[in-house]
Amino acid sequence: MTAPTDLTAGAPSGRRQILVTSALPYANGQIHIGHLVEYIQTDIWVRALRMHGHEVYYVGADDTHGTPVMLRAEAEGITPKQLIERVWTEHKRDFDAFGISFDNYYSTDSEENRVLSENVYLALKDAGLIEARDIEQAYDPVKEMFLPDRFIKGECPKCHSKDQYGDSCEVCGSTYAPTDLINPYSVVSGATPVRKTSTHYFFRLSDPRCENFLRGWVSGLAQPEATNKMREWLGSEGESTLADWDISRDAPYFGFEIPGAPGKYFYVWLDAPVGYYASFRNLCEQRGLDFDAWTKKGATTEQYHFIGKDILYFHTLFWPAMLEFSGHRTPTNVFAHGFLTVDGAKMSKSRGTFITAKSVIDTGLNPEWLRYYFAAKLNSTMEDLDLSLADFQSRVNSDLVGKYVNIASRAAGFLLKRFDGRVQDSAMHHALLGTLRAAIPQIAAHYEAREYGRALRQTMELADQVNAYVDTAKPWEQAKDPANAVALHETCSVSLEAFRLLSLALKPVLPTLVANVESFLGIAPLTWIDANVPLSSARPVNAYKHLTTRVEQKQIDALLAANQESLKPADGAAAAAGPAGAAKAAKSSDGNAEAAPVADGAGGMISIDDFAKIDLRVALIVDCRIVEGSDKLLQLTLDVGEGKTRNVFSGIRSAYQPEQLVGKLTVMVANLAPRKMKFGLSEGMVLAASATDEKAEPGLYVLEPHTGAKPGMRVR
Ligand code: MSP
Ligand code: ZN
Repeated sequence: MTAPTDLTAGAPSGRRQILVTSALPYANGQIHIGHLVEYIQTDIWVRALRMHGHEVYYVGADDTHGTPVMLRAEAEGITPKQLIERVWTEHKRDFDAFGISFDNYYSTDSEENRVLSENVYLALKDAGLIEARDIEQAYDPVKEMFLPDRFIKGECPKCHSKDQYGDSCEVCGSTYAPTDLINPYSVVSGATPVRKTSTHYFFRLSDPRCENFLRGWVSGLAQPEATNKMREWLGSEGESTLADWDISRDAPYFGFEIPGAPGKYFYVWLDAPVGYYASFRNLCEQRGLDFDAWTKKGATTEQYHFIGKDILYFHTLFWPAMLEFSGHRTPTNVFAHGFLTVDGAKMSKSRGTFITAKSVIDTGLNPEWLRYYFAAKLNSTMEDLDLSLADFQSRVNSDLVGKYVNIASRAAGFLLKRFDGRVQDSAMHHALLGTLRAAIPQIAAHYEAREYGRALRQTMELADQVNAYVDTAKPWEQAKDPANAVALHETCSVSLEAFRLLSLALKPVLPTLVANVESFLGIAPLTWIDANVPLSSARPVNAYKHLTTRVEQKQIDALLAANQESLKPADGAAAAAGPAGAAKAAKSSDGNAEAAPVADGAGGMISIDDFAKIDLRVALIVDCRIVEGSDKLLQLTLDVGEGKTRNVFSGIRSAYQPEQLVGKLTVMVANLAPRKMKFGLSEGMVLAASATDEKAEPGLYVLEPHTGAKPGMRVR
């Protein structure tokens, strides 16, 4: 559905008008590297399209409404507005640091959004697509509020594990309704929920008009996986399986009150996507753009939404239907990406792989390194992608430093010293440069097709060719004999022009680095047509300043250390948000999956709920061995009374000989997600004591229970 890449940018006839969005992050947690996959993916696309000269607007906002924000603010002793204001500043700071070039970053808690959400709702109502219905729901009689599934806990009806969520059991994995829980309680107050009836408003998605519209709309989706999912949801022709969508919530709720329905609020997922338009409307006011011409039915502009695969349902069913039946244009396309894992596992706070955007910045890692790495891993599908920290380090060092930046640093010295910083104009016709110039439109097309990995592979293959050219010409040899001056001049000129072309190819991914290249080369900001505008002797290059440095191991270590936190209440929400990640590809029916257990407010304290999440067990060390190839680890075979043993790798080699431990009892974390290590799978963690400052006071002491404890006993 995307129009073909147009390299004649600037020509009014080929100039497209494009509105682009990324999903709006929840206002109750920090931006982490999982989120960044999406914002970086969108930003690269936006920049690549702007480089054609198209009129592109990229808008975002914080998703502010809903129960979790309300309760979190209460727990912190501030108003929801104060909370979302603070979080907005943090989010904006992180996006700026990562070069996310929003034209407007706004909030769903805005006047524009209130008006637009009301208008959409009233239009749907006029179209006969809104229905009021009484439903029965869990209600907290103490807190006097209805409880979303995630705010009810109790004993799992299947395996009888305690403190399981209302929708699924984290121990045995079964799913059920909150009513199935044994001894349910409200996470908010601890009270036993009661059933209570209330009137809710539904968007009648089951109406044949919606079904017909969606069947047509789905055929335009870019991703076959998304189309298949949609067809699954739609069911077979004429017997749609689409359920009506509950778009209201009862007070108390942080959100917009529904017109004509006092005490009823729009469910957060109703006003969240409208927030795209609210942000754009606000931008239109700033820039004098015609909002209606972009958003009303019949608009000729393009509109794309980048999202994660977990929120496909909201963007390919509800949102297009809301737009269609409220007099708006519908999205040109929705682009969904997969989920990020770190070193092959879900991001985890205990392992330090729940990496916040801020920690990357604070550690001094260049945000553009992460942009480059994610881009290298991204394609147009919904496949998950993995950040391997070792691979990250070696890829950035070998590609960006070894292959790309080196070309400039090798050429610049001679050119500045011997040739007054001016290139040899005749060198601009070298065959190698012809190859590079011809590749630029292909690379631009890969970006537009969201095949960033392909774009970067092709770019690095070209860099390899340039390096081979330099290695053959040997400028450092040429420089030894003044008779070779012309040849040396040619070598440096060709490599510097090649560097300019590689920079052009990398510009959507590395905007800051390439801006520095532009000022070093003394050229105007590069766009795609500049492939054919070579360097000229008329403009000497400027003094060369090094463009980037290598990723050091100590930076990676510092990054993991910075994110290595035990359960800290202030981060409770974010902790619940991240791990919802890779494995869980669908948001709960209450949308806001990050529903946080409510912190007790006191800094540094955790609630009993947090503690209850950790399943500590007495374990018998049945066997203990040295791990070949590791001077840190011991391999333990543990009996935790499960009828089978567990394999655990533990970093206690410095303190124990294997024979000292065999036959001893200890305490292990039994519900830690298994971790794949170089030496095998580790299925838990053994507890050991050490000084806060291990360097000043070395020593490790494995915990041992008093006599009488038996393997499998619970520690609490
Ligand atoms: N607030 C909703 C979106 C509303 S859009 C009208 C939401 N927020 S979120 O903060 O949970 O996620 C924001 C985006 O980040 C989503 O598209 C989500 O898929 C994406 N990601 C969150 N964690 C992610 C990974 N671990 N990996 C990749 N993307 C991830 O959903
Ligand atoms: Zn269970």
